[in-house]
Amino acid sequence: MDERDGSPGGDFCPASRCSRIIARRYPGEDGGQDRMKHPTQVRLIREALAAIERGSPPLAETFTKNRASVYTDPRRAAMEREILFGGYPIVVGFSSEFRAPGDYAADDLSPMPTLVVRNERGELRAFANICRHRGARLVQGTGHGAVRFTCPYHAWSYDTDGRLRAIPDEYGFAGLERERCGLVEFPVAEKYGMVWAIAKPGARFEIDEHLGGLAEDLESYRLDSFELYERRVLRRPMNWKLVSDTFWEGYHIKVLHRATIAPLFVRNLALFEPFGKNHRLVGVRTSIEKLRGRPENEWDLLPHATILMNLFPNTVAVMQSDHLEVFRIFPAPGRADESITEVNVLVPRRNTAGAPERQWSRVMELLLGVVEEDFAVGEQIQRNFESGAVGEVIYGRFEPALEHFHRSIRDALGERAPG
Ligand code: FES
Ligand SMILES: [Fe+2]
Repeated sequence: MDERDGSPGGDFCPASRCSRIIARRYPGEDGGQDRMKHPTQVRLIREALAAIERGSPPLAETFTKNRASVYTDPRRAAMEREILFGGYPIVVGFSSEFRAPGDYAADDLSPMPTLVVRNERGELRAFANICRHRGARLVQGTGHGAVRFTCPYHAWSYDTDGRLRAIPDEYGFAGLERERCGLVEFPVAEKYGMVWAIAKPGARFEIDEHLGGLAEDLESYRLDSFELYERRVLRRPMNWKLVSDTFWEGYHIKVLHRATIAPLFVRNLALFEPFGKNHRLVGVRTSIEKLRGRPENEWDLLPHATILMNLFPNTVAVMQSDHLEVFRIFPAPGRADESITEVNVLVPRRNTAGAPERQWSRVMELLLGVVEEDFAVGEQIQRNFESGAVGEVIYGRFEPALEHFHRSIRDALGERAPG
């Protein structure tokens, strides 16, 4: 589970480098009462308070197991690339990156290199970022105001609708039907401030259907009122699912993060809810006790929780009280034992009038500090499972998000449950 503290209640310093809690409140912040439907907040707070009272988190019926080979088997990795990353909607960016016609971004992390661009009519389009002449990568990076994309190899050029507009020395291609040589187009959806694409030409998808009810939470966050503050890419020698796994339980916080954030969270209390193949996990802070005895209409979950969502298969959205963190996690090309994670910090587009500038740069610094603690363990796990000495992992009754995440993948791949 993610457990960084970005709430007005305090920031934490990662690891032993600094173990004090820095308490502060950012003026102008209005808490999160409007960021998740209030009845949902009340339900979750009641669940949390009841769990604290009985001294036990919600429990699944039994513990479960998973195969260790899901992290190491190259055939499993190939199936995931084809079926998960080739057949499911993948988050390819945020609306705030594509506000005006001609705004574009090349996404090199997904197994299918993708180009997303807003065309002249203001519609978002997604294409394979592959030149139709001889396959060069058409576009690098991001930019604004594009009207044409010109290939760096021989300068074929395409417009923002993917149509091939010019071929230098065209006499060499006499008879070629230009209109049949446009960029390969992918279905795209833009909603709730996010952009999804499927790397499968002609596929149809309904993003709300895919989100399986999680749309309500996403919508309430009004992601389009946020903008990308900073993005980092981390390449690590661990399977992409080990990166994701670090978010999906709170069991380790009292141990791995004992020197830093453990005091902020209720021991081993995380509230899980599935939404189709997606899920939400709410890590509960000890400060939630302050709500006991207060009228429910004043309850506000966000200052007392970290809310995490898995947008199946590979995007983790972490809702903090004043900003968002979004992790897009991919397998490295052709590898089961290496991953590439894009870390995005999104902040409100404008500070509340009169509010002092928030030190956003610290948010990324703190976030990476904790991620490093988790990744160090993940890399060891990868090496350990490569040894073949241990064939399975065990998920406790209070780790249902892990079970759900891996079962959803198995279901998508048509695999049977282990054991
Ligand atoms: S490969 Fe793009 S113009 Fe030749
Ligand atoms: Fe962690």
